[in-house]
Amino acid sequence: MSYRFDVLTLFPALFDGLRHESLIGKALESQTITLELHNWRAFATDRHSTVDDAPFGGGAGLVIKPDPLVHCLRAVVPAGARTILLSPSGRRFEQKLAQEWAQLPGITLICGRYEGFDHRVEAHVDDVVSIGDFVLNGGEVAAMAIIEAVARLLPGVIGNAASLTEESFADGLLEYPQYTRPRDFEGQTVPDVLLSGNHAEIAKWRLAQRIARTRAMRPDLLKA
Ligand code: ADE
Repeated sequence: MSYRFDVLTLFPALFDGLRHESLIGKALESQTITLELHNWRAFATDRHSTVDDAPFGGGAGLVIKPDPLVHCLRAVVPAGARTILLSPSGRRFEQKLAQEWAQLPGITLICGRYEGFDHRVEAHVDDVVSIGDFVLNGGEVAAMAIIEAVARLLPGVIGNAASLTEESFADGLLEYPQYTRPRDFEGQTVPDVLLSGNHAEIAKWRLAQRIARTRAMRPDLLKA
């Protein structure tokens, strides 16, 4: 059975690159995953296919109307699927959540635009998540980030399963620095220990590097 990604978006063409390139493209081709895009503008009922409107109470921008979106959700989402609204005011998406969602048969991601959703949409989804403390113009890029993070954990998407467990965040530390040829790049040389052939020393060096890197770049991870 394919893992199923459903995406509700007003801008499906934004996913063209993702669909055709690299590991996600290959996973789609081999039907390890499926990716269905649904434009909920098709569920608008007025002459102008209106999907947004002015906020009650006033304020800048437009708010996504609940009715076409929720009608679309009901029509396209497989029974029992996990539905996730993408919003900068959601809880933080992290590797742990990617691992959890990779165990499901699929997920449905809902991409916003404009100033946000009518709050009542939240009652019709299972989760609201943000990919970080910054504001995008819409949820599409966030959805693509989540699709990549989840898809690469699925069996058959990445050739080397060991490369998954060794990575940053699998155990709360950032990755150790990697080197390949040439041994001397414009005077920057590869650390001697990596050329020593001593695997115990290499493992020790890599762990020390991971801790030092995490302390320098992400001290918050060490505290947790
Ligand atoms: N939509 C706009 N900004 C977002 C963010 N940071 N995460 C998820 N969805 C978003």
